[in-house]
Amino acid sequence: MRTSLPVVDHDLLALLRTDLIAARFTVTGVTEVLGPMASAALAREHRLPAERVTAESTDPCAALIRLFALGAPVDVSDVVAALPNTGIDGLLALRLARLEGDGLVATCDLRPYAADEHTWWVASDLSEIATGEPLAPDHVLGIGGASTTLAAWTPRRPVRRALDVGTGSGVQALHLSLDADEVVVTDLSERALAYASFNAALNKVSWDIRRGSMLEPVAGETFDLIVSNPPFVITPRDGSVPLFEYRDAGGAGDAVVEDLVVGLGAHLEPGGVAQLIGNWEIPRGTTWRDRVGAWVQRSGLDAWVVQREVQDPAQYAETWTRDGGHHAGTGQFEAMYAAWLDDFASRDVEAVGFGIITLHKPQTDREPFVDLMDVRGPVGPAMGATIAAGLDARVRLAEMTDDELLEVAWAAPTDVFVEHRLSPGSSEPVDVTVTQGGGLRLRVALDSYAAAYVGVADGSLTAGQALTAIAALLDEDESEVRERVVPILRYLVANGFLID
Ligand SMILES: C[S@@+](CC[C@H](N)C(=O)[O-])C[C@H]1O[C@@H](n2cnc3c(N)ncnc32)[C@H](O)[C@@H]1O
Repeated sequence: MRTSLPVVDHDLLALLRTDLIAARFTVTGVTEVLGPMASAALAREHRLPAERVTAESTDPCAALIRLFALGAPVDVSDVVAALPNTGIDGLLALRLARLEGDGLVATCDLRPYAADEHTWWVASDLSEIATGEPLAPDHVLGIGGASTTLAAWTPRRPVRRALDVGTGSGVQALHLSLDADEVVVTDLSERALAYASFNAALNKVSWDIRRGSMLEPVAGETFDLIVSNPPFVITPRDGSVPLFEYRDAGGAGDAVVEDLVVGLGAHLEPGGVAQLIGNWEIPRGTTWRDRVGAWVQRSGLDAWVVQREVQDPAQYAETWTRDGGHHAGTGQFEAMYAAWLDDFASRDVEAVGFGIITLHKPQTDREPFVDLMDVRGPVGPAMGATIAAGLDARVRLAEMTDDELLEVAWAAPTDVFVEHRLSPGSSEPVDVTVTQGGGLRLRVALDSYAAAYVGVADGSLTAGQALTAIAALLDEDESEVRERVVPILRYLVANGFLID
């Protein structure tokens, strides 16, 4: 049975905000009440440690955790103590809870969410751990791993118009509201848009909310920033696997991500950026670069794509069968697992990639750049700044001749180190690599010319001056040294190893 949706009542929401702040129902407050173990377990979708901690606590925040995150019945007196201004009547009028015996039971999930110094609350459907039941097809997801990945990788700058495609409960739009004069959000799900309206009102922001499929509701409109955590999951379409609105857009294979990538060019202002995440299929005998490269070429946009993960069809099937609430060993699990394997086999798919796609509309009439990187290891925590700086650097490089590149006095930032690997007893390095501490945490091997240049890149000489001196010192032809160093110099500038 679907629960009712929350109601927007601005006066009651003002009282609720006051209560939530006073009860310290914030990310910090919740983490303090739960402690590290129960917090981590809850993030892994295990409720028992959080249940134990909150059952023993008299903190009003603990009552709210039990009510809204664990879906447990909470005594009316405890709810009144935690939400004295809203009261039981207010909570019922907002349709956030219903009476059951002597207690109240939440009708939706409500959690604090924070980024940098901002705190919000996000309502969504009760999770599987709260209801103990499989998710409904129109389930509205709370904040998941993909949501926080996209939020962390989105470059943040003041913009006029921003768009969130497939907004769900509106988490990306909350971020957009910090930097955009106008935020448009779209979703196909009526239920999701009801939560988005509620969350906008609860957090005192205003969005232009539109129902429709993907980019259809914004036909003919352009934006400075577009974000999307689309329903990108690749699901068999033969009816053997239940479809969920939050993860299945309806097309076969990875068509939803392809269509989005190809379609975004028409909706970006010159200089505008689109940031999205998604899956792509890798058919046998091809590479992810072939597939995603073809998509971005059709988009006509600058593209920087970072592949973060690759799964084989079996791993992919296991991940998404479990996500749907099914466990290995049951007949249903095995049937769905088989359907996924058959579906991938029908397109000869050998692997599925996951990654982050950054698209940019050039402001000048030049060839778009395409940079497809495979970076599977750990990266820095706030990648938005890395994407913003990397995009600026790539745009600059795309508009810079090699001579102009060599006229700049590049310098390495403080988190960049040159490592010389030596055999014991020898002072001649076996190899030289340059590493960075933040961002993509890249590590790149340098040849002897590039190593000599990076070793002196402290901003005192232009690259051209340094390469002239290095060629003379090594008694090498200067034009050959330049030719060898320029491509790696472009890579190092694009990726923040060298700045000016
Ligand atoms: C993975 S969720 C993302 C939710 C939220 N933006 C986030 O980052 O957590 C994908 C969203 O796309 C919506 N959706 C599914 N099919 C869609 C379609 N054809 N057009 C637009 N949105 C769709 C779902 O309802 C869901 O809200």
